[in-house]
Amino acid sequence: MKTKQIDKLENFSGTVLIPVFETNAKSIVPIQFEGLEISSKVFYGKKDTSYLAENNNITYLFIGLGKVIDYKALKTIARRISAKEKESFGKNVALFVPEEFNTDQVEATVSGLLLGTYNLGHFKKVDEHPFLNPDFELEILSSKDYSATINKAIKIARAQLQTLELVDLPPNKVTPKYLANWAQDKGDKYGFEVNVLGLEACQIEGLGAFLAVGKGSENEPQFVIMTYTPKEDVPNLKHVGLVGKGITFDTGGLNIKTAGMVHMKCDMAGGAAVFGAMQLIADLQLPVKVTAIVPCAENAVDAKAFLPSDVIHSYNGTSIEIIDTDAEGRLVLADGISYLIKNYKPEYIVDIATLTGSSVGTLGYECGALFTNNETISKKLQEAGDSVGERLWQLPLWDVYKQDIESDIADVKNYSGKPVAGAISAAKFLEYFTNEHAAWAHLDVAGVAFGDDEFAKSKHATAYGVHLLTKFIENL
Ligand code: BES
Ligand code: MG
Ligand code: ZN
Repeated sequence: MKTKQIDKLENFSGTVLIPVFETNAKSIVPIQFEGLEISSKVFYGKKDTSYLAENNNITYLFIGLGKVIDYKALKTIARRISAKEKESFGKNVALFVPEEFNTDQVEATVSGLLLGTYNLGHFKKVDEHPFLNPDFELEILSSKDYSATINKAIKIARAQLQTLELVDLPPNKVTPKYLANWAQDKGDKYGFEVNVLGLEACQIEGLGAFLAVGKGSENEPQFVIMTYTPKEDVPNLKHVGLVGKGITFDTGGLNIKTAGMVHMKCDMAGGAAVFGAMQLIADLQLPVKVTAIVPCAENAVDAKAFLPSDVIHSYNGTSIEIIDTDAEGRLVLADGISYLIKNYKPEYIVDIATLTGSSVGTLGYECGALFTNNETISKKLQEAGDSVGERLWQLPLWDVYKQDIESDIADVKNYSGKPVAGAISAAKFLEYFTNEHAAWAHLDVAGVAFGDDEFAKSKHATAYGVHLLTKFIENL
């Protein structure tokens, strides 16, 4: 989507979008815009309302914001207008930027408008959204120059659109190889290095926990490693490590799922957030070094699949007793985290995964679960999340929970066998593989990466994590 700044509507014909803060239902002063007057009886800027008016070849779409509005709500309103009112858009669309808007509000609005082009019907014949027409230019009606903010907003939405698509496409399309190719493509396009370890390379490296999970699938596992380094020299360059769960489908393995299996294409959403964040970080040319690993595999049912009670050997030499093959995410993450620490030694590590149903039971669909041993990054992650509406809430990592992963036969086991504190014991399992790293955080996003909202009839991707991770890295 291209944009162009204009300072008046002279010779304009088309649709003008006008965000309006709430005045008063009983106000006798009408909302005025370009000679139009809208009585408060029909519209006064109440949140989630809109009002269409026509005058001299211009369609005016007034958009109610309420008295105050946060980043996420504003972005959602803009997305809604773009997705649901596109039939009323003329060839030209202008966005009026209210005087009261700050740059974050401009960013949220423009990102939301672009996100509104997303269509879940990847395999249906659908008309292309007018904003995606290569000739289309969104006109920004303002006397101030917002071009830097607008460019950034477009980059954010573009990365989120990619993540939405990766998660929503079905598992017979999005295989581990598909993800590896995606990374290679985007690495070339946006400027980060990509190195993919296929089955043989993983065997040579000894990624035993990762390979155990992928054993039962026809689709070869792919261990994707991405490195972004800023082009220019940065004094005191910080180095962040990311790890994302890339299970392209989770049947549960031989401990086959009895409920909710149909949604398990979402089990690579943590990986997709890391992929989207890598695209965005490189696109924004952030002055930080980032090494990201997404272990991609399918947890399938087959004669070759790993068995409950198997003992497997992870990359860092830990023996793991498999209690439940459905607790597979922690296994691929364990190898991802160990590999990252041993070979790349990042200063900060964040992993993100649709890891447990327990995190959904605990926190529902409103925030992700945060686990960390480092109060500074806890605060920075929560602040980044709050500012963009991708919230996190911290849960404990106390050592009393360690008994949940103690095995009689091996160094650790992958599941306590008890239906309590599942998100915490999964986090304790991951912590075991961090080699006491001083700044590691784990985000369990099973409740927020994929869900219901006004934009479709069925559960679908949210792109949770793309903006959160990028903002966290930007603010380090
Ligand atoms: N992929 C699931 C977790 C999940 C649940 C993701 C709901 C998205 C929505 C994970 O691999 C899993 O199966 N977890 C089990 C672990 C259990 C067997 C220890 C769970 O949470 O039930
Ligand atoms: Mg599972
Ligand atoms: Zn899973």
